[in-house]
Amino acid sequence: MTSQPVPLYSNEVAIRNYLQLMARYERLMEISRQLNSTLDLSTLLARIIKAATELTDTETASIMLLDQKTGELRFEAASQATMTRGAMEAIVVPLEGSLAGWVVKHGEPVLVEDAQNDPRHFQGVDRVVDFRTRNLLCVPMIAFDKVIGVVQAVNKREGSTWTEDDVNTLTTLAAQAGVAIENARLFQQSDFVSEMVHELRTPLAALKASTTLLLRPDLPDKRRTDIIQTIVSETDRLARMTTDFLDLARLESGRARLDASVFNVFDLIRESVEIVNQQASDKHVTVHVEDGTCLLDADRGKLKQVLLNLLTNAIKYNKPNGEIFITVTAPADPEAKVKMARIGVRDTGQGITKENQKRMFEKFFRASDTSGYTQGTGLGLVIAKKIIETHGGEMNFVSEWEVGTEFYFTMPITEPPVPPPDPDKIEGQPAS
Ligand SMILES: Nc1ncnc2c1ncn2[C@@H]1O[C@H](COP(=O)(O)OP(=O)(O)O)[C@@H](O)[C@H]1O
Ligand SMILES: [Mg+2]
Repeated sequence: MTSQPVPLYSNEVAIRNYLQLMARYERLMEISRQLNSTLDLSTLLARIIKAATELTDTETASIMLLDQKTGELRFEAASQATMTRGAMEAIVVPLEGSLAGWVVKHGEPVLVEDAQNDPRHFQGVDRVVDFRTRNLLCVPMIAFDKVIGVVQAVNKREGSTWTEDDVNTLTTLAAQAGVAIENARLFQQSDFVSEMVHELRTPLAALKASTTLLLRPDLPDKRRTDIIQTIVSETDRLARMTTDFLDLARLESGRARLDASVFNVFDLIRESVEIVNQQASDKHVTVHVEDGTCLLDADRGKLKQVLLNLLTNAIKYNKPNGEIFITVTAPADPEAKVKMARIGVRDTGQGITKENQKRMFEKFFRASDTSGYTQGTGLGLVIAKKIIETHGGEMNFVSEWEVGTEFYFTMPITEPPVPPPDPDKIEGQPAS
């Protein structure tokens, strides 16, 4: 048997390819160690995205997770800076009629060299972010024998082409990522549950003590009334907590649905002020509202929840005879692609100390110098911020001790819909 002499250069190429492959696997092992070293979901997702683009030499990558209840796919992370986290999470990718859906259903990777001409490609994302998908590799993310989502590497860099190794490396990465994500999710849940149970203990202990006291036969009437009052307010607190827990759990797990409609935010502000009017006048606090038109396309009910929380805080933590100013500011940059309105609620309260400012959006945080004011859950601001971010906006605050605080958030503005042309007024045909 005679064998063909192998040209030397091809041998060199083979060795170079082999070395490249080894380097890649080494890197993959290092990444895998990194993935398992964090239980923080957002850190983890960012690491997976970075690893995916690096290993496949692509421009961008994204992760979609499957909602087991609704069977929909949602973006959890992407390396693209053009998209805010909230806007991205709001994109729901259907299982039917999308490449990612195909990958989830079949549990197999798909490589698409020409995405624009592939009927399976879901155009929704490109539309939202003004981004052009040229080619992509989509692999299933499997954890404990279940497909939990997909990892997509998008657009090979100039001069690079897709290879079998890309498919293998990304599949391996996705498998490790899947397990790491499941672990982080379980940890997140158990963390929140234990915090929650801990918070429930305080009102429960108060209820237990009160009812035990009530059983004493020698209790003076005045004392009895006080105890019953405590029972009423602690039960109220428990009820508020359970609603807040549920809201937050929904928002955090990405199961909260936005029920969007177009409305004038000034109307919503007036409506919200109406609700807190009594509370404000009890404290002799004056609320100033402007008038105008600013259309938002958002979940009206959820936005009302945000405004009500900011307003009740501004009242609760205000000084007697204080003031509240609500402002809506149109975007400064008329050329901006996404125009954002800024809605601010400013009070003349005691303000927030520098130390407490750092912890403002922490779950269950209540400044000790304000906790005597009224009862609260310390979840209101966390929920409000989440709601705003789910809409693609941001929330923050500025505060000066002894002067006051302004909480504000941004929301994308919707252009007023263009009215359809009036058939009676078409030129040359005056209305009869
Ligand atoms: N406008 C404000 N001025 C001063 N402190 C505030 C203001 N808004 C919120 N805070 C502080 O932030 C904490 C958390 O607020 P929040 O999440 O709404 O919970 P809650 O109102 O139930 O306490 C409050 O307990 C209070 O200490
Ligand atoms: Mg509050």
